[in-house]
Amino acid sequence: MEIKTIQSAVPVEVLVINKFEGENTSEELANTYAVEKDGFEGKFGQTYLLHTLGKSSADKILVIGFGKREEFNANKMTEAVAKAYKKLVQIKAKKAVFDFNTDGDYGKSAVIGLLIADYAYDKYKSEKVHHLEEVSFTKYSQESVNEGMIFAQAMNFTRDLANTPAQIATPEMLAETAKNIQGLETKVFDKAQIESMGMGAYLAVGQGSVHEPKFIHMKYTGRNVHKKIAVIGKGICFDAGGLDIKPASSMLTMKDDMSGAACVLGVMQALAKLQPDVEVHGIIAACENMPSGSSYKPGDILTAKNGKTIEVDNTDAEGRLTLADALCYACDLSVDEVIDIATLTGACMVALGTYASGIMGNDDEMLQRLKSTAENSGEKFWELPMFKEYFDSLKSDIADMKNTGSRWGGASTAGLFLKEFVKDVKWCHIDIAGTAFLEKPQKEFIAGATGAGVRTLLNYLK
Ligand code: BES
Ligand code: MN
Ligand code: ZN
Repeated sequence: MEIKTIQSAVPVEVLVINKFEGENTSEELANTYAVEKDGFEGKFGQTYLLHTLGKSSADKILVIGFGKREEFNANKMTEAVAKAYKKLVQIKAKKAVFDFNTDGDYGKSAVIGLLIADYAYDKYKSEKVHHLEEVSFTKYSQESVNEGMIFAQAMNFTRDLANTPAQIATPEMLAETAKNIQGLETKVFDKAQIESMGMGAYLAVGQGSVHEPKFIHMKYTGRNVHKKIAVIGKGICFDAGGLDIKPASSMLTMKDDMSGAACVLGVMQALAKLQPDVEVHGIIAACENMPSGSSYKPGDILTAKNGKTIEVDNTDAEGRLTLADALCYACDLSVDEVIDIATLTGACMVALGTYASGIMGNDDEMLQRLKSTAENSGEKFWELPMFKEYFDSLKSDIADMKNTGSRWGGASTAGLFLKEFVKDVKWCHIDIAGTAFLEKPQKEFIAGATGAGVRTLLNYLK
């Protein structure tokens, strides 16, 4: 789909305009038919399609309800444009001009909505989804439209990766994907190198799979670096649970257990285009968690990179083991901040559902900044507690800790486990177990991967 910016509306197949509640639209025809005759109110998300029958330079006018003007914002723009796009697809439109009457340059959020809605994972379908050929926006700057395109392309790149079946999206494939991103310095460590770095927790998780683990370290360096940040993504290419195997229904979506890694790849790819003045390290400890004769076992004692020992209580709590070693590695990079993003716990999904990701950390100011960035980016991050009492159930008789404890408060327990591997750095942990992958459509998103975290991390890093 081609996206353009134009000065003012031109004759077109579909003209898309907006209506705020209690106000008229910019088109007389729409005011006469939609508003006066049919009582179209313009409540947020309502749509009205008008066939102009030669009375306008557009064949059709699509009116989108924007709700109350004083409640309108960038996130609503994203949602409204996604809604409009879905309607345009429904009527099999090819070309549209979006001519909105709003104050401010909403190019970025409009294009994000457009491209979120344009996304389809139909690579393996014989019958392809209908896409628009051309969309033009009036009033918005090329700069803000371009930024929206970079953000949305990053999200859709992430969604493609997380939607890719585990038979294809292997640790090797993630490593190749990382190496193919232009504008970064990328190192990939193989099994022998992971061993010599002392990553005993991460290695154990991957040892039951026929696919070797790959530790990926990407580095983006801006021109005037004033801050250094490491972003770690959980990269379990398939989580069968290991010997503590998952029931079929829970295993069904576990190709998505590398959504954190996919997010980091999407973010790194976009940073190379946006060129902000920061240094960002993208880190992924990729492997599969499989049951086999060579799998790690309940009762095993693992030694992480920082020397701490872990008794394996449950092989299905594998993400925190891989993240433990990745966190140790990141803390050795002398960065100012470390962020990890992971489909870590079913407990977080139970607590927050599919609308909000959980967030925890050791620095209140950083937490607040990430939360408000999420809010302005159209995502929701909700803080979960890190009371030290949660660590009690992780105590082991024979090692420094166990990898799982009580079933209750599982998201917080996982957070406290991770904290053991964070040293002298500001750190936040984002649990996207509920938000990364949808079993049914929700708002702008079709079922499947959502690219959770991409928009927020990009806004945070730039
Ligand atoms: N990848 C899962 C968490 C998950 C669950 C992600 C549902 C997305 C949707 C993680 O590795 C896991 O299996 N966690 C266990 C931990 C338990 C054994 C302490 C869980 O949440 O059940
Ligand atoms: Mn698991
Ligand atoms: Zn997992």
